Amino acid sequence: MKKLFAVLPLLGLAVACSPKEKTYRLALAVPITGDIAAMGQGMKRGAELAVKDANDSGRFKYKIELRSFDDRADPKEAVNVANQIVSDSAISVVIGHLNSGCSIPAAQVYAKANLAMITPAATNPKLTQQQMDPSWKWPKNIFRVNTTDDVQGQFAANFILKKLKLGSVAVIHDKTPYGQGLSEEFAKEFKLKGGNVKSFDGISIGEKDFKALLTRIKSTKPDAIYFGGIYNEGGLIVKQARELGMSSVFFSGDALQSSEFFKIAGSAASGCYVTNVGVPPERIPSAKEYLDKYKAAYPNTDMQPYDHYTYEATMIAALALEKAGIKDPASTEVDKSKIIEFLKTLKYDGVLGHTEFDEKGDTKNKAVTVYLVKDGTFSPVD
Ligand code: ALA
Repeated sequence: MKKLFAVLPLLGLAVACSPKEKTYRLALAVPITGDIAAMGQGMKRGAELAVKDANDSGRFKYKIELRSFDDRADPKEAVNVANQIVSDSAISVVIGHLNSGCSIPAAQVYAKANLAMITPAATNPKLTQQQMDPSWKWPKNIFRVNTTDDVQGQFAANFILKKLKLGSVAVIHDKTPYGQGLSEEFAKEFKLKGGNVKSFDGISIGEKDFKALLTRIKSTKPDAIYFGGIYNEGGLIVKQARELGMSSVFFSGDALQSSEFFKIAGSAASGCYVTNVGVPPERIPSAKEYLDKYKAAYPNTDMQPYDHYTYEATMIAALALEKAGIKDPASTEVDKSKIIEFLKTLKYDGVLGHTEFDEKGDTKNKAVTVYLVKDGTFSPVD
């Protein structure tokens, strides 16, 4: 009996230190408040669902915990948040950021700390290109599960010219790395294929009145308006264009594909086109289980454009941690270099279909889908 009492505290200690009790952290860095919080909140739902699924699956020997950080879609705040993230040595991978303008500078902070970053939404090619530059002295730590704006912009240009058979366009962008970058890629391809870019104008995030600009554009009679930017400004632009009696087809990219756009544009949303990278999850058989779980977990909630990308990036991060990151069973310290090396050779089948990364860290999945707004939804166009 005496012996049993002697070993009980030791047993207790063993239980407290058992692998299941150990917690590893993933970070999510997106706008959780501010003008585009709707999209960031959707990403948070996707990441939380992934962490729950990872823990419930029983596959992972340890508990995984998500820490969410709010960059408010502000590049300066993104760098602040990145510095907070790298100061927590228990964080093994960062999922984020949403905006290219935030992702590009934040990625450098993560690189200096040897921390892998997987963006589920930032589309500017420069994000990953920067780590190919000879001046990049740090590990190539940047990965993205969505394709890029060179692909998206070219796709839109060809669709407008060849499918919609429209030959002229007025381009408006929001002067951000995303909006301007996408618009430049679009305009380059549109011109190259014989289209007429009648104007190319920048507006500012937060602007509300576009009537002077639209009145000037109206006088040039473009067949289409191509907008590189986010749903807040995009929604107001199309609404005001219709109020001015403009009938030019309105076309935009991934950051417009939110139900928030309908709230802002109202009836003017109908007939607008947007591209988004990838294939709609409803068309991917391997995404069905995810969609069912999402709807059950978040009933009566509009899915936002990057929720499933964030789910996928989080699942990939958890896998990298499991397969490569566990350094010492006795501590929660992770092997960050091995996580980066694992991601470079990843072959993963999930809700996005197949994901593997090229030498830049970009997904090899280059699919783009065009959606037409009708009956208050974004309907894929074949
Ligand atoms: N795709 C958008 C960006 O890169 C969200 O900023």
